[in-house]
Amino acid sequence: MSDLLLQKLFEKSDLADDEFTQLIESDFFDEQLRQLADKARRSYYGTDVYIRGLIEISNYCRNDCFYCGIRRNNYHVERYRLTRNDILNCCETGYKLGYRTFVLQGGEDKFYNDDMICEIVSTIRKLYADCAITLSLGEKSYQSYKAFFDSGANRYLLRHETADTEHYVKLHPSEMKIDNRKKCLFDLKQIGYQVGSGFIVGSPYQTTQNLIADLRFLQQLQPAMIGIGPFIAHHQTPFQNFKNGELKLTLRLISILRLLFPYALIPATTALGTIDPLGRELGILAGANVIMPNLSPVTVRKKYELYDNKICTGEEAAECRHCLNRRITSIGYNIVTHIGNVKECKQQLIK
Ligand code: 5AD
Ligand code: FES
Repeated sequence: MSDLLLQKLFEKSDLADDEFTQLIESDFFDEQLRQLADKARRSYYGTDVYIRGLIEISNYCRNDCFYCGIRRNNYHVERYRLTRNDILNCCETGYKLGYRTFVLQGGEDKFYNDDMICEIVSTIRKLYADCAITLSLGEKSYQSYKAFFDSGANRYLLRHETADTEHYVKLHPSEMKIDNRKKCLFDLKQIGYQVGSGFIVGSPYQTTQNLIADLRFLQQLQPAMIGIGPFIAHHQTPFQNFKNGELKLTLRLISILRLLFPYALIPATTALGTIDPLGRELGILAGANVIMPNLSPVTVRKKYELYDNKICTGEEAAECRHCLNRRITSIGYNIVTHIGNVKECKQQLIK
């Protein structure tokens, strides 16, 4: 019975809801699931692991997500913004270390208007023509996304966080709307970005049905990149007393995602590395194929604390780079430094 379920997932890249429930709620299939996910990943990407240099440009945020450490109502956070030159310096350091993707991520900070973002993006585009520029700056208008794209940005990360409307309401203040988030994701796709979405695993009040809704939404969206990580409580948020998401469930979902979207770029996230010292390695073994080390100046790293005990906040960019090389080769995979675009998505899921 179990074999049939996994075989179906591998061959058809889909399951019925009750079959997903079986798979998500039991650890019985985990090892077989992992092996199949690894097989699927190898057929598209071999043992290659792509690296993306993450630059956390601002921890100001106008939003107030209940789980997030840099939410606007956390008055204990020491706020910072990187200047244009800080950002360009990070790119320079990163380029020398072999990074060919720069991810500019930040809270939703109105300080940077569209012209400023466009200017920064077009400068990076000119200086590093062989690099991908990824933005992760939250919800914006179609026009803003288009302007960034026209300035040279190629990819955009915006996790949907949870696809179920009722669950979304439990994690966010009422002014934040799941429908707008979903609209943003479809806008980004239409403009031509490689789009990344994803969700938090084990967030407060999450049910198996919610997770299935996340998978179904991703099937609709067909993103190039899918980032998931365990919920980790931040001590200065309303969710401080909730328990963290589980390592095992996160790994299981990475494997399921790999089988649903064999072509996708799936990071082994920092949150995964935070709940377990070998979390990122286990994430790669479960089917992930991207790592996103931090390129932000060490002086600001601790201030970008979305959750407690975030790893790699004391290390220089070069240290992170070498540490990761060791970690990834130790499990039999290898870091590649080229741009690492998504492999062509076989439209097998659109039925
Ligand atoms: N635990 C885990 N992930 C979190 N994120 C924000 N806060 C937390 C938390 N407490 C994730 C969100 C966001 C990404 C940048 O970090 O999914 O999209
Ligand atoms: Fe900034 Fe959620 S708190 S986007």
